Amino acid sequence: MTKSLVQQQFGAHAAAYATSAVHAKGASLGRVVELVQPQRAWQALDVATGAGHTAAAFAPHVAHVIASDVTEEMLEETRKLAADKGLTNVETAVADAEALPFEDARFDLVTCRIAAHHFPDVARFVAEVKRTLKPGGTFAMVDNISPDARSTLGYTEAELRDAAATYNAFEKLRDPSHGRCLALGEWGEVIGAAGLAVLHWEIMSKDMEFTPWAARMDADTATVARLQAMLETGTPALKAFLRPRLDAGALWFTLDEAIVIARK
Ligand SMILES: C[S@@+](CC[C@H](N)C(=O)[O-])C[C@H]1O[C@@H](n2cnc3c(N)ncnc32)[C@H](O)[C@@H]1O
Repeated sequence: MTKSLVQQQFGAHAAAYATSAVHAKGASLGRVVELVQPQRAWQALDVATGAGHTAAAFAPHVAHVIASDVTEEMLEETRKLAADKGLTNVETAVADAEALPFEDARFDLVTCRIAAHHFPDVARFVAEVKRTLKPGGTFAMVDNISPDARSTLGYTEAELRDAAATYNAFEKLRDPSHGRCLALGEWGEVIGAAGLAVLHWEIMSKDMEFTPWAARMDADTATVARLQAMLETGTPALKAFLRPRLDAGALWFTLDEAIVIARK
């Protein structure tokens, strides 16, 4: 059910992701390449590649990248992007993140950026990452996170849990295929439990203009009004996390994105 919703949502909005500034030019893209230090001989896999921005960012630095996604329309955008950039080492593959159709120990690098919050079972996804990585291989995970004490200081655990639930409801209202953004502490636990060693983590904030963010998933007028109300009437912990504000008459808020680098 959730995966067919994903295919429906992303199939219908594939082109918007090809041109989305957050996805195509987001600061985490350059930063994750810098942190990973990819090597020329590497075989890489990008999981839930979307319009292929992360696969295209790594392709010039490695031997080969498989850009995989569960939505064929997104892979079409990836093929266009690779052709436009003259990248000849990017191959696309239809693949579910929780059942990767690749043999054990095939990849030096597995990446996954701004997508894991759609996966119904993140632990299963990370187990698949571990299985398909070579010993010593690198996992680079980038995703929007929910608030916890690492990202949002000065609130009780109960206040942060409540803010995390409301934040995920806010995302789900705009995009029904949204599953759940984990908090940074939860990512550490899931990655550690899979047997990968976390080498580095950091949080990057990204400023979002509310109207284009809602429009990217075609939210109707009533939904836009509910989303705006959620931003404006949130608890102090939610407001501390999302930082809603007006700038030159436009509503903006901020999302936190975590980058986690781990090794098998
Ligand atoms: C926001 S886009 C990804 C953005 C992209 N990684 C980037 O860096 O620009 C989210 C993607 O996740 C894919 N997706 C969601 N659930 C998936 C799953 N279970 N397996 C594989 N791909 C999935 C969707 O089809 C969509 O293309």
